[in-house]
Order: sequence, then structure tokens, then C-alpha cells
Amino acid sequence: MSMKTFKAWRWLPRKKTLLSDAGPHGAHGFRMRQLAFMGFVCIAMMFIVYRTTNYQYQQTEIDAKRHPFDSIENSRTLELNRLPQGIIQARSDLELKPLWSRTRDKVDDSTNHNLLAIAAGIKQKHNVDSIAQKFLAENFTIMLFHYDGNMNSWWDLDWSNKAIHIVAHNQTKWWFAKRFLHPDIVSIYDYIFLWDEDLGVRHFHPGRYLKIVKAERFDISQPALDSNSTEIHHRITIRKKTKMYHRRIYDSRGFTKCTSSSMGPPCTGWVEGMAPVFSRSAWRCAWHLIQNDLVHGWGLDMKLGYCAQGDRTKRVGIIDSEYVVHQGIQTLGGASAKKVLNKDGSLKKRSGVDHRAWIRRQSTWELEVFKERWEKAVKEDTSWIDPYSRNSWFNIFARTRKIRGKRRW
Ligand SMILES: *[C@@H]1O[C@H](CO)[C@@H](O)[C@H](O)[C@H]1NC(C)=O
Ligand SMILES: *[C@@H]1O[C@H](CO)[C@@H](O)[C@H](O)[C@H]1NC(C)=O
Ligand SMILES: *[C@@H]1O[C@H](CO)[C@@H](O)[C@H](O)[C@H]1NC(C)=O
Repeated sequence: MSMKTFKAWRWLPRKKTLLSDAGPHGAHGFRMRQLAFMGFVCIAMMFIVYRTTNYQYQQTEIDAKRHPFDSIENSRTLELNRLPQGIIQARSDLELKPLWSRTRDKVDDSTNHNLLAIAAGIKQKHNVDSIAQKFLAENFTIMLFHYDGNMNSWWDLDWSNKAIHIVAHNQTKWWFAKRFLHPDIVSIYDYIFLWDEDLGVRHFHPGRYLKIVKAERFDISQPALDSNSTEIHHRITIRKKTKMYHRRIYDSRGFTKCTSSSMGPPCTGWVEGMAPVFSRSAWRCAWHLIQNDLVHGWGLDMKLGYCAQGDRTKRVGIIDSEYVVHQGIQTLGGASAKKVLNKDGSLKKRSGVDHRAWIRRQSTWELEVFKERWEKAVKEDTSWIDPYSRNSWFNIFARTRKIRGKRRW
């Protein structure tokens, strides 16, 4: 467009000069001034266009550096160029499709879809069965990650053929989740429950749970742990008997003081790895946060709050009225949550001999690696601002608001 304007401008004066030879002198001077003015405007416009384009180009370059995955996506789209646009389906789901059904029932967008994924071993079959029964009654899609390879003994359960079974020997919940719950695959599900197998659900109802989660707009949540659970690592997850949900704890004792101005774990904005529940968008983020090679997921829970699609002190919560009993059975699939010592906030040290000491060593090593990677990423991404750093604007704003306003929790 700017080129056209430019040409027109070059072309105009000559034409005008030819014409104006015949014209009266005064009008000629006026035209000349008018033309000069128009020329000036055009040059100014071209300069602006040039600057904008240049700026956009630089921005694109910066963006490409910041989001390498976008450029991967772009190159993928290039690969797809040979297909007509309308045939391309970039997403999928985990719904079973009947082969013989005449009316090809499409996935019904009007109803809600939710997914329960559990890493399960045969020893916990009975418990997993009772969990699955509750979720099936709420039309959840069930997915089992069989980490002990023992799958055939599950077929006698009447819901088993409605579930998706994935078998891989000696793999952890996070390993499975990274590989089989890609956000594009699970994008029809409003909520994703990524649970350990050893949770007692007698006092838990998935429908009521989701009602609270939706009403409070929790992107990441977990059911509270009954106080008689054998494994409780952090006070924030303990059930508050008089509440429906909570977002934070207050605690003046201990290494970390938890006050109303605490901005993060272990006081607020945090769930543990054994029973997290993600909204669709939080899961998209969490999936990217899970490191492909760090299969034990240690340290991940500390950063999950960053995946809340808003302030983690508001969008992350523990549901008290629908709670579970954590039986703390040491299994491979659930290795995620088997964290022991955590200076700030741990209640118990593990007692007794643990023949899985090497797994623990591995997990501890992974935790260190994860921390290092996070710090390196923060250092290298100069345009990233930690929304929860003490000095960020976001935080100052939140603090002033808190001083002014009443506490809602
Ligand atoms: C589950 O699905 C059935 C059949 O579509 C429906 O009748 C029922 O209301 C659904 N239940 C819940 C709790 O959504
Ligand atoms: C899985 O681990 C168990 C115990 O740690 C071991 O006995 C078994 O051989 C492993 N299975 C595979 C397929 O590696
Ligand atoms: C304690 O845990 C058991 C399951 O381990 C459960 O049946 C029982 O109801 C719990 N007790 C209380 C007081 O919640």
C-alpha cells in the first residue's frame, strides 16, 4: 500500500506541472504548496510504516526465541500444507467408539467430559475399583496406567472394558502422564484427575467436588487429606473439618511462618502430587512443566501453582468437604508423592526401613536437577517476570489489596 502511495506521489507532480502551465499563476502556487504538503504526509506515513514493520519483525524474532514450540508448530503446519485445510484434525480424545453403531455418534459437546487417570498395580485392585465406581457414576472417562504389567486380572471388573488401559513396566505416574495425556489428546476434558491408587474415597463425591471447584474457579485443586491418613507431608493438605475448602493455612510455628501475606508454598497456592486435579488450561501448562526425563515428579508440586491461570493464592485450593484418606502405600506408580523430608512444613519423617532406598536416591537427584533447570530457565529468560516474587508489581498490588480488604478465606 505504501508503495502505491509513493508511486502516486511521484507521478502526481509531473502531471500537475504539465497541466498547470496553462493555469493562472496564483492557483499554481497554491497547488504546489498543497502537493508539497501531501508529499510530506506521504513520507511521514512511509516512515511510520517502516518503523512499525521493523518493530514487528523484531518482536517476531523475540517471540520465536521465547516460544520455540510455536515455531515447531509453524513448521508442522508447513508439513500439512499438502492437505486441504478442512480435513485436518489437530486434536483427539480418549472416548471409545462403537464399531457397529449406525449413527456415528460424535463426541457430544453439550455434556461435560472429565477424566480420571490412575497409576494402578494389581495389589490395589480393590481400592481402585471403589474409586472407579464413584467416578463412573459421574460419567468420567477412566484411564489406568498399569505399572506392574499385570493387566489381565482386571478384566473381571464390569467397568474394565469401558476404561483405557495402558501397560508399561515399572513406570511412574508422571512418566505415563507425560506420554499419554498430551493436552491436544485430552482437550475435551474439563477436568483431569491424576491420582495415586491408594486414596480412600469413602467421603469423596466427584460431582460435588467439581461443583465446588467450578464455583471457586480453582484451576488446580486436590481433596483434603483426612487427618488420620498415614502419610501427610504438608499441613496445607490436611482437612479442615468446619470448612468446605481452603486456600491457605496460618501457622506461626515452624521454619516457614504462614501468614496472610504468604504468597506461595507451603502456605498457599499449592497441592501435593498424590491427588491433583487440573482444569483444561492448567493441565496444558502442567504438561509442559513435567520434564520428560524426570519421572518421579519431585519438585514439580512446588511449581504447579505457576500453572494456575491467575493468582495462585486464589486459583489453587484444597477441598475439605470432599476428602480422601491417603493410605500411604508405597508403590511405584505413586512414587510421585512419597516425599519425605521437607524442612518447611513436613509433619512426619518416614520411619522404618525402606528397601526402595535407591528410588529415593534417584528422586532426590531428580529434585536437584529440576531445581537447577528451573533456575537456569529463569535466568535465561530475561523477559520472564516471576509474578510471585516479593518485588513484582503483581505482588505489591496483592499486598495492598490484602491490607485494605478483608480476608476471604
Ligand atoms: C451420565 O450420562 C447419562 C447418559 O448420557 C445421563 O443420563 C446422566 O445424567 C449422566 N450423569 C451425570 C451425573 O452427569
Ligand atoms: C520391575 O521392577 C521389579 C521390582 O523392582 C522387578 O522385579 C522387575 O523385574 C521389573 N520389571 C521390568 C520389566 O523391568
Ligand atoms: C480413618 O481412616 C479409615 C480408613 O483408613 C476410615 O475408615 C475412617 O473413617 C477414618 N476415621 C475417621 C475418624 O475419619
